[in-house]
Amino acid sequence: MTYIEGRNLFRSQLKVFFEINEIDFYYKMILKSFFKIEPTSLALEPKTLFLPAKVKIIKAVLQRLLNDEPLQYILGTTSFRSLELMVTPAVLIPRPETEELVEWVLEDYKSINCKHLLIDMGTGSGCIAISLAKEQPFFNVTALDISRKALEIAKSNAIKNKTIINFSQADITALSSEIFPINVIVSNPPYIHPREKKEMKNNVLNNEPPIALFVPEEDPLLFYRCILEYAQKNLLPDGVIYFEINPYFLSEMKNLILSITNYSIEERKDIFGKVRMLRLQSH
Ligand SMILES: C[S@@+](CC[C@H](N)C(=O)[O-])C[C@H]1O[C@@H](n2cnc3c(N)ncnc32)[C@H](O)[C@@H]1O
Repeated sequence: MTYIEGRNLFRSQLKVFFEINEIDFYYKMILKSFFKIEPTSLALEPKTLFLPAKVKIIKAVLQRLLNDEPLQYILGTTSFRSLELMVTPAVLIPRPETEELVEWVLEDYKSINCKHLLIDMGTGSGCIAISLAKEQPFFNVTALDISRKALEIAKSNAIKNKTIINFSQADITALSSEIFPINVIVSNPPYIHPREKKEMKNNVLNNEPPIALFVPEEDPLLFYRCILEYAQKNLLPDGVIYFEINPYFLSEMKNLILSITNYSIEERKDIFGKVRMLRLQSH
C-alpha cells in the first residue's frame, strides 16, 4: 500500500462518519504520530510504499476509528493551548471551551506581580492547572481530582510541560474543613445531566470517563454547590471563581450562587455562542 492508497482507504471507509477534510487530517496525524512521516510527504511522495508492518498498524488504527474511538486516545496525546498533553480514557479530552476559560483567567491576572494561590477542582488531564502555572508564573497552583488514574496522567503532563503543581486526591463533595486561604478557584466539574445522553455522540459516551461527564440526576449542581460552600470559607476578599458551566442550567446556577453567596456574577459565551463560563467575584 502506498501513502496515497492509505489515504484513499481512510476516505472510503470513514466518509460515512466524517467530512473529507477531517479524515485527511486524521490520516496525516496518524502518519506523523506513529511513523514520523511529515504531512507534506503525502503530496511530495504519494507513491512511496509502506512496509507491511506499517500497513498492519494503519489498518488497526482505521478499525479503532471505525469503532468510534476518539483520535486523541488512539494517538495518546492532544493539544491544549500551547501544551501537548498525554490523554488516556482515564481523563476527559480537553475541549476548546476550556481553553477559553483559561484565557479569561489569564487576561484578568496578566498584571499581577506577587504570588496568588489558585486551586483547580477536578483537574483531569491537568490542562487548566498546567496552562495557568505555565503562562502566569505568579500562580501557585494546587490541582485536585477524585480519580487516582487521572492524577497520574496530570502529574506526568505537569512534568512533561515543566511546571510545578501541588496535586491532591480529594473529593469535591467532601473537602477538608481546614481553612486554606485561596485567591482563585477554577473548575470545570462534571456537569452533564444523564438525560442529555441521547444528544451525545457515541465516541464520547463509549470512551470518555463517565465520572468526568455526568452529575447525579437528582442533584445536577452538586459540584458547584460544594465548591461555593468551600469558597465561602476559604476564598480571600477580592477572590475570584471561574466556572465552566452547562448552558442548560444557567438560571439554576445563578439562583444557586445567589442563595449561597453575595458574589457578583459575570457571564461569558463560548465560540458557539452559548453561555459556558461564569466569573464570580467576592467583595
Ligand atoms: C469535566 S472533567 C474536567 C477535566 C479537566 N479539568 C478539563 O477541563 O478537561 C471533571 C473532572 O472532575 C473529576 N471529578 C469527578 N467527580 C469528582 C469529585 N467528587 N471530586 C473531585 N473530582 C471529581 C473527574 O475525575 C474529572 O477529571
